[in-house]
Amino acid sequence: MLFDNHGRQINYVRIAVTDRCNLRCFYCMPEEGIQYMPKKDLLTYEEIVRLVTLLAQMGISKVRFTGGEPFVRKDFMRLVQSVSTINGITNIHLTTNGVLTAPHVKELQKAGVKSVNLSLDTLDKKRFESITRRDEFDNVMETLDLLLSEGITVKLNAVVMEGKNTEDILPLVTFTKSKLVSVRFIEEMPFNGKGNHNPTLHWNHHKILDHIRSAYPTLSKLKDEANSTSYNYAIPGHHGNVGVIAAFSRTFCGTCDRIRITAQGTLKTCLYDDGVLNIRDLMRAGVSDDELKATLLKAFKNRARDGFEAEQQRKTGRGVSESMSTIGG
Ligand code: 5AD
Ligand code: SF4
Repeated sequence: MLFDNHGRQINYVRIAVTDRCNLRCFYCMPEEGIQYMPKKDLLTYEEIVRLVTLLAQMGISKVRFTGGEPFVRKDFMRLVQSVSTINGITNIHLTTNGVLTAPHVKELQKAGVKSVNLSLDTLDKKRFESITRRDEFDNVMETLDLLLSEGITVKLNAVVMEGKNTEDILPLVTFTKSKLVSVRFIEEMPFNGKGNHNPTLHWNHHKILDHIRSAYPTLSKLKDEANSTSYNYAIPGHHGNVGVIAAFSRTFCGTCDRIRITAQGTLKTCLYDDGVLNIRDLMRAGVSDDELKATLLKAFKNRARDGFEAEQQRKTGRGVSESMSTIGG
């Protein structure tokens, strides 16, 4: 088992396979002028497989692919299939916006992907377009239905934004009456690619929960899984359930079990740090497996205590403002 310097077990890696995306969610990216990375700067699939193999030897068993949008990268399913055969990797998950996902749902199921997080901030087609700046709502809903019919667990990620979609909170809760989905409301974070690193949080997890409880007073706390980032609640008579993720308030750092690899191969040991190791450059300079594992271990033994400390230690000396698409959620 792998432990960090604060006694937290690390067993989960989140890998951004690309920084590109076919949506432009306004809380994640500006509408225009995005500078994508040159493709040669991305980790190749072979490099990712090598890295995950070493991480699995060190004690990591769970992988989540994120982006950007993973299906925007060519042959993404080839990567999923390769990683699914790595010894020690027992859980593969995926975060997708659902636009290009539908044709791959069967293959995902065959590759052993048991759970998919779908980004969906509204059930209203018009507001979907205003939030994502693209008219793709119907494709996302098709993906959702296919995932459920294949028996894949679905969590809907809904970022709660003042003045944009707070009217969608209750309809999304109501949706869980008939649909076997978990809707997780996420506090908006400053990862918006706009250089604006000092936003005010209007809707924190308490306010979101109070709002839900005012319409659903029977809301009852579920026992959260260990290392869960969400506080989860059941509503009597509903197939699905709801949760809140205090992504900005950072209440869950004490049990953090995860590390991140950005699309260009930078290791982040916290969402809020600005990268602690350039793995791609080490690999391309010919590092051996043993050397790489030793270097990774050193970074895992030097983790910030929480997201506040990680943010303070950023080399730029400034708060976070990069786009979520470069980090991998
Ligand atoms: N604040 C909170 N969540 C965000 N996401 C993207 N950008 C932000 C942000 N600024 C979420 C999306 C996606 C997940 C990977 O990250 O909802 O589902
Ligand atoms: Fe794309 Fe996800 Fe960012 Fe939206 S939040 S623009 S779907 S990467």
